[in-house]
Amino acid sequence: MSKRIDVKNLNIYYGDFLAVEGVDVTIEPRTVTALIGPSGCGKSTFLRALNRMHEVIPGARVEGEVSLDGSNMYARGVDPVGVRRKVGMVFQRPNPFPTMSVRENVLAGVKLNNKKIKKADADDLVESSLRGANLWNEVKDRLDRPGSGLSGGQQQRLCIARTIAVKPEVVLMDEPCSALDPISTLAVEDLIAELKEQYTIVIVTHNMQQAARCSDRTGFFNIEGTGKPGRLIEFDDTQKIFSSPAQQATEDYISGRFG
Ligand SMILES: Nc1ncnc2c1ncn2[C@@H]1O[C@H](COP(=O)(O)OP(=O)(O)OP(=O)(O)O)[C@@H](O)[C@H]1O
Ligand SMILES: [Mg+2]
Repeated sequence: MSKRIDVKNLNIYYGDFLAVEGVDVTIEPRTVTALIGPSGCGKSTFLRALNRMHEVIPGARVEGEVSLDGSNMYARGVDPVGVRRKVGMVFQRPNPFPTMSVRENVLAGVKLNNKKIKKADADDLVESSLRGANLWNEVKDRLDRPGSGLSGGQQQRLCIARTIAVKPEVVLMDEPCSALDPISTLAVEDLIAELKEQYTIVIVTHNMQQAARCSDRTGFFNIEGTGKPGRLIEFDDTQKIFSSPAQQATEDYISGRFG
């Protein structure tokens, strides 16, 4: 299920503003890639370009290629909705649908894709997705209660369950733990470690310990100044980035000298 992502010569614009310039990178299947860098350097912008979410923003556009196992998602005729089914996204703030039950939340993405699903199959999918998100034991007796009644950490895992219920190949996460307490953060990190057996995972984080703990590879984005484009400065094994990065700017950032 898991797929390789090849990014070639990617430029990302908001209107005339070039927000991210010249990204070339390959992300291997069944790995966790952490994206780090100072605020405003284009991490979220880049992440959104990996599932064509960027283009739902008026004026935003992308040049270059993003391929999943060799097939360019930006090629003419490719349906962006199909791309987003293969490449799921989890956002910073847990965003369960407030009027829906836990169960309905898990199934929401599947239903959006207009899939008709039998009750028994839906029950199985709800259970397997919640198990996959490490949440089943905590919610199995309250599947019909509102998703908004869960704790923040549980809500984030519910959103992860909703994402994996669609059976994506890649899971993108934009600061998925920034609204969570340390215990919930560790629960989500444990989950990420499990998910990588099946999915290609890309996570944006401001937490250096988190990047070091839960990723195999790390990409450092940086920006030279206001109005300048963000660039991927360095991409390497996480261990290498955090022990002996090749670039001075990376070293400065991870050691807290700026950003
Ligand atoms: N919808 C938008 N319209 C115009 N400019 C935008 C939009 N979203 C982001 N930008 C600009 O693009 C640049 C990159 O923003 P982005 O949100 O990708 O940064 P980031 O690295 O995710 O920052 P943070 O760490 O604060 O989340 C910034 O200059 C930002 O102001
Ligand atoms: Mg961001």
